[in-house]
Amino acid sequence: MVGADRARASDAAAAATPYNFDMSYYRKHVFFCCNQRCEGEACCNNHGSKEMRDYAKRRIKELKLSGEGKIRINVAGCLDRCEEGPVLVVYPEGVWYTYVDKEDVDEIISEHLVNGRVVKRLQI
Ligand code: FES
Repeated sequence: MVGADRARASDAAAAATPYNFDMSYYRKHVFFCCNQRCEGEACCNNHGSKEMRDYAKRRIKELKLSGEGKIRINVAGCLDRCEEGPVLVVYPEGVWYTYVDKEDVDEIISEHLVNGRVVKRLQI
């Protein structure tokens, strides 16, 4: 399927699905891949993803942004973008990021999760 056909099929599927994002249980749902592979294989946890996920979860709670109708930070298994890792994905937008440190995670929280602006420099 070429790009235009794929877009039309996606539009048709969206129109046929009576889904209202405003009714989502969480306003934003963030999945950090925390998969650990065998030594020598690329994986997100080789880049400290568990620590960064724990940090993000703690920050969201400290900012009183967690809970129903707010933001949820979850662990995910392999998201199949191992070579680009560490990766996380934000729904409902389906925006993917990579990150290096807590400053990057803080920027994703403040820009994307709080203000709804995609952090282009970290997007993959
Ligand atoms: S190990 Fe994270 S995407 Fe595969």
